Amino acid sequence: MLHDPNKVYIFDTTLRDGEQVPGCQLSTAQKIEIARSLEILGVDVIEAGFPVSSPGDFNSVVELSKAVTNPVICALTRANKNDIDVAAQALKYAKRPRIHTGIGASDMHIKHKFNSTREEILERAIAAVKYAKQYVEDVEFYAEDAGRADIEYLAKMIESVIAAGATVVNIPDTNGYCLPDQYGSKIRFLKENVKNIDQAIISCHCHNDLGLATANSIAGLQNGARQVECTINGIGERAGNTSMEEVVMILKTHKNLGLHTHINTMGFYEISHQVRNQMNMPVQPNKAIVGANAFAHSSGIHQDGFLKNRENYEIIKPEDVGFPDATIVLTARSGRHALKHHLERLGHNLDKDNLALVYEQFLLLADSKTGINDNDLNLLVTTHLVKA
Ligand code: KIV
Ligand code: ZN
Repeated sequence: MLHDPNKVYIFDTTLRDGEQVPGCQLSTAQKIEIARSLEILGVDVIEAGFPVSSPGDFNSVVELSKAVTNPVICALTRANKNDIDVAAQALKYAKRPRIHTGIGASDMHIKHKFNSTREEILERAIAAVKYAKQYVEDVEFYAEDAGRADIEYLAKMIESVIAAGATVVNIPDTNGYCLPDQYGSKIRFLKENVKNIDQAIISCHCHNDLGLATANSIAGLQNGARQVECTINGIGERAGNTSMEEVVMILKTHKNLGLHTHINTMGFYEISHQVRNQMNMPVQPNKAIVGANAFAHSSGIHQDGFLKNRENYEIIKPEDVGFPDATIVLTARSGRHALKHHLERLGHNLDKDNLALVYEQFLLLADSKTGINDNDLNLLVTTHLVKA
């Protein structure tokens, strides 16, 4: 059923799983702005919200369905008729609507969340997919807490929901519990043991509680999944979701994986800023791909190697993700090469002796001050230069 077996579908859930974070709540207008940027970025699916959760979320799904037309617009539900009715109503203007329904698959959730049995939960899962299918052709099923579910039961559930009409089957590691080889093996097991698996796309939905969301998603893809559920900047419940920019750049950097997305990666820096500003959610400076230090080189050894050939210390070009440029940060760990680079940028072409002299003074200053700026450099040169 897939046109291109090596294409990875990017399912963005910034506006649903990401927006669940306290303090990150957005107005409908803000959601539309972000959704438009996601559309330009080239995402395949936008999870617009959980319509039954509040009138505001319902309205956002309605308005977003009108405003954004290229990606599939998806709405989340639990496995009950009312949630599905409300989601279908919210999606009525969507050109390509998808209902994302599901239920807990681990014994933990079955017993301690639903106070139920495996058999009863299986029936509810099948019924929810069949019910959603009356409204839309495209139904995604999530097996919540699949990361901790019994694999034989999970396989049975997945086979049953595909038979009921699910077009995408989502295998969430809801609690960020799995190790990459465990998550990858789960996907492989489903791929090899679910009879009708080729009638659906397998989706990875990983949380970052142990810092493994990206690694687990990649393991899922390496074992047969073809959709990744992710957010911009990796925002989401607790420690967050899989970060879109990380997964996409891993696939782009490791071409030998043979997988690709349709994402315009040059938009990452801008959308990262948009999301951090709108959601009041700062990004750690050392965040991969979009953090302020992602392309900043600060130690002397690295700076020297970088200035000789950028590829010594650069595996991604900053311009490929829309980052202004790499920076050589001057600190007390910087070497002469980095200082010379900055002095030349400011028009000071010093001979060896003068450079040594200014470097000595620069180190004294850098030991006492963070953030050496252009004024500092100009002052160092005019104060300490020995006129030839
Ligand atoms: O983490 C999770 O299991 C989810 C589902 C609702 C898809 O977000
Ligand atoms: Zn989630």
